[in-house]
Amino acid sequence: MAGVAFRPGKWVGGAVAIGLVVSGCGWFDAPASMLDPAGPVAASELTLINSSLVVMVCIFLVVAGALVVALIRFRQRAGSDRRLPPPIEGDTRLELLWTVVPAVLIALLAVGTVRSTFVLGAYLPARQALHVDVTGHQFWWDFNYRELGLDTANQLHIPVGQRVELVLRSADVMHAFWVPRLGGKTTLVPGRTNYLWIEASQPGTYVGQCAEFCGRGHADMRLVVVAEAAAKFQQWINRQRAPQSPPTSALARQGMQLFQARGCSSCHTIAGTGFAGPVGPNLTHLMQRTAIAGNLLPNTPANLAAWLKDPPAVKPGALMPNLHLSGGDIRALVAYLRSLR
Ligand code: CUA
Repeated sequence: MAGVAFRPGKWVGGAVAIGLVVSGCGWFDAPASMLDPAGPVAASELTLINSSLVVMVCIFLVVAGALVVALIRFRQRAGSDRRLPPPIEGDTRLELLWTVVPAVLIALLAVGTVRSTFVLGAYLPARQALHVDVTGHQFWWDFNYRELGLDTANQLHIPVGQRVELVLRSADVMHAFWVPRLGGKTTLVPGRTNYLWIEASQPGTYVGQCAEFCGRGHADMRLVVVAEAAAKFQQWINRQRAPQSPPTSALARQGMQLFQARGCSSCHTIAGTGFAGPVGPNLTHLMQRTAIAGNLLPNTPANLAAWLKDPPAVKPGALMPNLHLSGGDIRALVAYLRSLR
């Protein structure tokens, strides 16, 4: 190794590159930081993260400190004794120390982790929580409020200050529910049911993301949780429950016919219309959602038209095929979808 010179430039360059990669995530200023909890579940998860961070930093300081002391105190000096020191065969006290201390630390962390895993994964009965059946699909979320008789997609409304029990299932492959500021990540496993409760302390819009690789559309499988004060949440329920008013314009009426004629209704449900397709997202009161395509695009007429023209081009991996709709069909269908208020 004598020929390898120490080149500080290389080290600095490497550190800068790592720094850029780490900060490139924008994690600390992103609105979705788990370091900025907005409810008791996320707060308890942050406490766990912080306690393991403290333990790890203490271990690092002890080990790095001992290393630095050894490097300085036992460095070679002019006139040092250059003979090899006598070999040490073992030291029972030291060996016990470095076995027992880490074992105790890991046990302490394990107790906290296992305890909160059971607390957060507990099934809360109806008197303690609002229940939402969450089903993960490639690549969107279905939210079914069984007590309220409501079904919606991709945007979950919850009341502030109330526990919401999420009953997590998958329709196809593994997904994971994760809203960093409220809590998570819990996997949705085909063939089994997992539970997770969340609670928001403040009204707000909290963004989330499927956190288990589930196919080409995984990165675009976003979700939004809208936490509202009780009165506003009740308003949302009332609007969702209101019957879908029939389209008024001729163009929208034509779109409603096309919805059936072009096969949209064999995949999508719109409550109160007779369209009851069980495959894709429920489109009842679609205009009450702020985004479409798994929260990829703002819910605007132009984006609806772009989506209908070629869904997989907008969202790679989308299971809704390109139906090769004509411009006229798309205009009529958009008019119909815009009437779903
Ligand atoms: Cu669903 Cu990743």
